[in-house]
Amino acid sequence: MRNPPIRIADAISRSAQLNGITDTAMLDTQLILCFVLQKTQAWLRTWPDAKMSEGHLSHFEELFQRRLAGEPVAYLTQSCGFWTLDLQVSAATLIPRPETELLVEKALQLDLPETAQVLDLGTGSGPVILALASERPMWQCTATDNSQSALAIAERNLGRYGFDYVSFVCGDWYEPIRGQRFHCIVSNPPYIAQSDPHLGEGDVRFEPTTALTSGADGLDDLRQIIGGASRALHKHGWLITEHGYDQGSAVRALYAKSGFDQVTTHRDLNGQERITLGTALCQ
Ligand SMILES: C[S@@+](CC[C@H](N)C(=O)[O-])C[C@H]1O[C@@H](n2cnc3c(N)ncnc32)[C@H](O)[C@@H]1O
Repeated sequence: MRNPPIRIADAISRSAQLNGITDTAMLDTQLILCFVLQKTQAWLRTWPDAKMSEGHLSHFEELFQRRLAGEPVAYLTQSCGFWTLDLQVSAATLIPRPETELLVEKALQLDLPETAQVLDLGTGSGPVILALASERPMWQCTATDNSQSALAIAERNLGRYGFDYVSFVCGDWYEPIRGQRFHCIVSNPPYIAQSDPHLGEGDVRFEPTTALTSGADGLDDLRQIIGGASRALHKHGWLITEHGYDQGSAVRALYAKSGFDQVTTHRDLNGQERITLGTALCQ
């Protein structure tokens, strides 16, 4: 027997089932519906009595069940907003976080040449470097990642916006850009301790571990990035790194040990230490 068609309003009322799984049950349900129907949230509000086709309904059901099982909305809709951009994401990439926009803000506040050479280490789906390219189209932007699958998504995102001076290279941290120098290096590397219990909770369960964890104290990759930065920066070039809320003082010590000057840490919108930057004294 065929099920009676259900209305947009009926589908949205399913959001109550997501309470306890997410703080944004209504929004998540609407975003899934928008993706399935290829409509805007305004359209959903305007046409609450519109009937869903069987195809749309079964697609909605499949994605809604996956959300009930905890999968992040961004993976279900394969997209995520960052800065002013709408970016594709996949299970091979981290879902860009709002706090990472502070990395972009700090880079934009620097007094860099008009055609500055800028490097993003561990670019994932490309949010940081693409946001920078959107604001400074003449910057010569290079971004690296050791995941080919992540870079394929980053390339697709670049294709969507068509910025002229952005290139992606695959490899371990500085290895693919050996011998090159930059005016600014930005990085949001993995920085969670391997044994952090939060890795077993919520959305992060679905994200690639290689994008999240970095050794026993979470600092292995930051040690490599900060330790190697002077060799990849012009004199007085800047290094800006994201890190965990409780890693500020350890990260400042790593900058100081590697000969950086003007080392400062900045807090995110939640008041947590999140971004540290410093300038390279020597080449
Ligand atoms: C925390 S994610 C950040 C992704 C992206 N920049 C963002 O903010 O959404 C860290 C990224 O570093 C990459 N990565 C991990 N280890 C790496 C390595 N040894 N060399 C280069 N990239 C690495 C991961 O593949 C992942 O894309």
